Amino acid sequence: MKKISVLGAGTWGVALARMLANTNNDVTVWSAVSSEIDYLEENHRHPNLKESVIPDSIKFTKDIESACKDKDIIILAVASIYVRSTAKNIAKYITDNQIIIDVAKGIEDNSLLTMTEIIEQELKNYNPNLKTNIVALSGPTHAEEVAIDLPTTIVSASKNIDSAKVVQDVFTNTCMRVYTNEDVKGVELCGALKNIIALASGVSSGLGYGDNATAAIITRGIAEISRLGLAMGCNMQTFLGLAGIGDLIVTATSKHSRNNTAGHLIGEGVPPQEAIAQVGMVVEGVNALPAAIELANKYDVDMPIVFMVNAVINEGVSPLVAVNTLMTRKKKSEI
Ligand SMILES: NC(=O)c1ccc[n+]([C@@H]2O[C@H](COP(=O)([O-])OP(=O)(O)OC[C@H]3O[C@@H](n4cnc5c(N)ncnc54)[C@H](O)[C@@H]3O)[C@@H](O)[C@H]2O)c1
Repeated sequence: MKKISVLGAGTWGVALARMLANTNNDVTVWSAVSSEIDYLEENHRHPNLKESVIPDSIKFTKDIESACKDKDIIILAVASIYVRSTAKNIAKYITDNQIIIDVAKGIEDNSLLTMTEIIEQELKNYNPNLKTNIVALSGPTHAEEVAIDLPTTIVSASKNIDSAKVVQDVFTNTCMRVYTNEDVKGVELCGALKNIIALASGVSSGLGYGDNATAAIITRGIAEISRLGLAMGCNMQTFLGLAGIGDLIVTATSKHSRNNTAGHLIGEGVPPQEAIAQVGMVVEGVNALPAAIELANKYDVDMPIVFMVNAVINEGVSPLVAVNTLMTRKKKSEI
């Protein structure tokens, strides 16, 4: 049994907390949003996970110090834009032996750092001598399915393979199978960038296009993500694995995906900001766009789908013009 804290009480944090409590861990959930804690304590259900009951054994707290103190594992499950502030918030309470897991998917604008890199930076800013054990946990994992124990696979990625294996042990159960991977950068790039490709897939279905177009977007999407990843020194196998093509397939095709849903609304003609507001929860693909564009420029990598999604979301280009631009690009070899 491990003592585990989940920081962030959104759908993913709560789904993981429930699973870990049901597999005999001592679980505490903290949120910066105190109304979330009040709601969960009172109702024992997450408002977006109605089929799933939160076990009585889970403790809730609004106190960040007690959420961190004496825990074996601390999971950051906040939206990616709050990972830096949350890491800064916990830095003074983190000790050498604790494993920090990031489950948020994103890349920070300007710094172009991944989530585990941000956490490392904030923890080391506070204590340069801290021995950090940081793991990225990522894969094709909709909270709605994990919350009702449907079979799921995930990747535990860390430069420290021992930490990745501890996380593999803790998260493995009859409903969840965990693979380790030392290519943390590749795993995190996939997690952030697939959300942009899922927006494109949603736009395509919203325009009324069919499975052919979806398959094209997924396949050419992973081609551009892996092109960037290889330029950044990542491992091709990661892009062909669960955190890569696996997560892209689930995000680009599922009804549970907010990125896909937001894209669908945009394809139907809803203005982007209104579509994002209608989804109501974090649409990470939109947050990842500035960094994706910066990375593509920095590494001089061709990412046509990412650039067209950015044109539609941030530059007022209509979805039909974007599709036409993609379809009439210069002729190319696939290989
Ligand atoms: N939902 C999924 O199926 C799923 C699966 C895998 C990974 N993820 C990733 O997990 C992360 C969280 O996703 P989610 O679905 O739980 O999102 P969500 O919108 O349900 O929850 C986001 C949470 O962020 C926290 N938050 C809000 N404002 C904050 C603040 N000012 N400071 C600190 N925390 C604050 C809140 O607890 C909020 O519930 C995202 O990066 C997402 O990509 C989600």
